[in-house]
Amino acid sequence: MQLSFAAPSTAGSGALIVGATEGGSLLPAAADADKTSGGSLKRAIAASRFTGKPGQVVELLAPAGSKASRIVLAGIGKAEAFDSMAAEKLAAKVVARLFTSGEKEATFAIDLPKGSKMKPAVLAAHLAMGARLRSYTFNKYRTRNLEEHEPTLQRIVVTTRDVAGAKRLWAPATAVAQGVFFARDLVNEPPNVLSPAEFARRAKTGLSKLGIKVDVLGEAEMKKLGMGALLGVGQGSERESQLLVMRWNGARRKDEAPVAFVGKGVCFDSGGLSLKTGVGMIGMKGDMGGAAAVTGTLLALAARKARVNAVGVVGLVENMPDGKAQRPDDVVKSMSGQTIEVLNTDAEGRLVLADALWYAQTRFKPKFVIDLATLTGAIMVALGLENAGLFSNDDTLAKRIFDAGKEVGEPVWRLPLGEAYDKMIKSKIADMKNITGTTHAGSIAAAQFLQRFVQKGQPWAHLDIAGVAWQDGEKKPHAPEWGVGWGVRILDRLVADHYER
Ligand code: BES
Ligand code: MN
Ligand code: ZN
Repeated sequence: MQLSFAAPSTAGSGALIVGATEGGSLLPAAADADKTSGGSLKRAIAASRFTGKPGQVVELLAPAGSKASRIVLAGIGKAEAFDSMAAEKLAAKVVARLFTSGEKEATFAIDLPKGSKMKPAVLAAHLAMGARLRSYTFNKYRTRNLEEHEPTLQRIVVTTRDVAGAKRLWAPATAVAQGVFFARDLVNEPPNVLSPAEFARRAKTGLSKLGIKVDVLGEAEMKKLGMGALLGVGQGSERESQLLVMRWNGARRKDEAPVAFVGKGVCFDSGGLSLKTGVGMIGMKGDMGGAAAVTGTLLALAARKARVNAVGVVGLVENMPDGKAQRPDDVVKSMSGQTIEVLNTDAEGRLVLADALWYAQTRFKPKFVIDLATLTGAIMVALGLENAGLFSNDDTLAKRIFDAGKEVGEPVWRLPLGEAYDKMIKSKIADMKNITGTTHAGSIAAAQFLQRFVQKGQPWAHLDIAGVAWQDGEKKPHAPEWGVGWGVRILDRLVADHYER
């Protein structure tokens, strides 16, 4: 889908999208459209229950007197509340509606309402971002009913008083969208196709060409490093476990300490010998959502040539039951030297992260390390599907992540860590166990486990993204069904706001 910016009143022949504030008063371009169509817009408002609330849409097909094939009137809500995220949601909603409708072209002519604090260029760039993010498809495995699913919308024009400004803001935004799409592709890909090795190959091909250095460690190398926690998880799989290491060096000073992102990359989580139920296993191809987010973030940073040194470390495994699989009761030794009693092979993400976190810290001495993982079902009990869980040993870092999430529509909510919780993972025979034995505070216990693999003085944050990495249905306007690509935008924003120099 092609996206461009143009001066106002350059509407083409396709769909024309105009806006009205809450209360139903038409913004200037909408008032124009009403005039050229002989007052049909106002009549349509009167005939429907349109009040201008966000998300409301009235659509006129083939309006008489207008050269547009349809006029879409979108509610923008209260002018003061119309911010960049509201603009994105509006554009996403409209694109979802027009995407496979037969319409080929759409022009957004949403005027900035009086009272909004946005600048024209910001509005235009965010309309474009919402449109772009919602225009994602994953149709590669369909062989029938393609006409139902194939997009018809090919061209979007966003009109603005500040075309140059919009283009300047769009350049980095489109790079971020590219990272989000890359992450979504990885999450959506079925697990028979996306093995750990295949994930690593795709990352290598996709990222190397942007100047990212990509190294892939196999089982032999990880064994030498002592990564017994990660390797134990992959032990029951026919497929080789991999550690994917990505480095983007964009800072002015080559020796500037990097920021580090670590991802859980369980390409399929059957639970292992602590087998999940049939229903519980569905969707577990997405258990590499953290790894996808980290990979997509590195791609985005490189694509927009971010002035930062960044590393991504991703532990890729498949968690399967087998005669060679890890057993409940096994004790494994992690790269850090600490031993872990594995009492439930389905609490595998923390085992993978234990070694990936240790590797990232000891090899790169990063400014901070943030891990992302679809780690616990319990995070959905606590926070539902709206917020990711945030855990951190550093208030400044936590605040920055919280703010970045709010800015880009990937909100997070912080949960506590503490000594009392840490006691929950005391083992009778090893340094720790990988489950608690109660149903209390499951997400916090998992975070406590991870914290045992964070070095003294190392700023660290953990994002439990089990509730947000994918969606059943289309609850979030920015993404179609399934892989959301959650994490790319928040991490990119965090870097852009604080770590570029
Ligand atoms: N990958 C799952 C967590 C998960 C569950 C993500 C549902 C998305 C949707 C993780 O590996 C897991 O199985 N966690 C267990 C931990 C338990 C055994 C302590 C869980 O949440 O039940
Ligand atoms: Mn599991
Ligand atoms: Zn898992």
